[in-house]
Amino acid sequence: MIYILFYTRYGNTLILAEAIKEGVKAAGGEACLRKVHEAAPEFVIEKDERWKATLDKMNDIPEAKVEELSDVDALVIGSPTRFGNMAAPLKEFIDLTGGLWMKGALSGKVGAVFVTNSTMHSGKESTLLSMMIPLLHHGMVIVGIPPTEPETVTHGSYYGATATTGIMADNSPTEEDLKLAKSLGKRIYEISSKLSVK
Ligand SMILES: Cc1cc2nc3c(=O)[nH]c(=O)nc-3n(C[C@H](O)[C@H](O)[C@H](O)COP(=O)(O)O)c2cc1C
Repeated sequence: MIYILFYTRYGNTLILAEAIKEGVKAAGGEACLRKVHEAAPEFVIEKDERWKATLDKMNDIPEAKVEELSDVDALVIGSPTRFGNMAAPLKEFIDLTGGLWMKGALSGKVGAVFVTNSTMHSGKESTLLSMMIPLLHHGMVIVGIPPTEPETVTHGSYYGATATTGIMADNSPTEEDLKLAKSLGKRIYEISSKLSVK
């Protein structure tokens, strides 16, 4: 099972997560989507129709549970950029995985990352790289997107799937972004199904 764990406020990161899942499934694998717990106070969310609509859209997606991670073949984490870093709710979830680290439960499994942000050069790569750090601490084997994917010339990143959503977060991931996200899903599945390391 490829476990796709993400945070989103306006749904763009969810769209990439769904494309990664599609890529896993098209390659013959199984994947599940898990959202991290929304920690923002209700009175803040209440004032933002788009935020509320995204939360409604995700009603059927279960919240992630740390104990589920022991059984996964690969862990893929996704976040909107927050000041060049991952969003706090995702970090908070990752900070609950110390027990798994103690047991080496994720060691030797495939890890991968994806991100959405506002503009071309405002923190995509710093966010992707910083998201890899905890996965490496867990002993995971990081998989990215190779330069043999032609869309990487203008879209995405060698470090993971991406989308540039604009200042108001209202530009959805493009066809190229989705193609690269699907190919990341396929690659995660293909590599994790061959991998046997500790
Ligand atoms: C507090 C905050 C900080 C942000 N920092 C950045 C940033 O450093 N660089 C950037 O490009 N976008 C930044 N953004 C924009 C989001 O990363 C962007 O809108 C993202 O695509 C939203 O994803 P979502 O639709 O999945 O919620 C920030 C947004 C917020 C609310």
